[in-house]
Order: sequence, then C-alpha cells, then structure tokens
Amino acid sequence: MSETPEIAAKEPIKVDVEEGKTYFWCTCGQSKRQPFCDGSHQTTSFTPLPWTATKTGPAFFCACKQTAKSPLCDGSHARLAD
Ligand code: FES
Repeated sequence: MSETPEIAAKEPIKVDVEEGKTYFWCTCGQSKRQPFCDGSHQTTSFTPLPWTATKTGPAFFCACKQTAKSPLCDGSHARLAD
C-alpha cells in the first residue's frame, strides 16, 4: 500500500468548471482521468477530495499532488526535482 501519491504531471491541469458543481480530485495520482478520480485509488489508502466550484470559469488543478491548496495548484510542481 503506497502512502505517497504519484506525480501525475509537473504542471497544473486547466479545467473549465461550473459554479455549484462538485468535482472529485484525484489525490493518489493514479487516475487516468487527471485531475479527477477514476477509481484507481482502490488499491491505495487514498480517497478522492470533493471540491465544489464557487464560480464558473477556468480552474487550475494540481497534478503533481504536492499542493498545499488542494485541489488547486499552488506552484509546488516548480520545486520538484526533475
Ligand atoms: S483515482 Fe486517485 S483518488 Fe481516485
């Protein structure tokens, strides 16, 4: 069982979200439907993080899974080693 999330990508993923709609952000990094959960976490101890959009428009979701502002990008990917 892995406790460290996989780095899905070292850049955020832009998604046009809808106000009031809830999205399930992948925390394990194994989803093939990044940045959202596709059920792949079932073999891990991770669970998806629900997030409800407060306004319609683009949102930049963290894909490196290191953000402190989950599910959104906080620039942490820039500090990851190559
Ligand atoms: S697939 Fe990663 S949290 Fe569900």
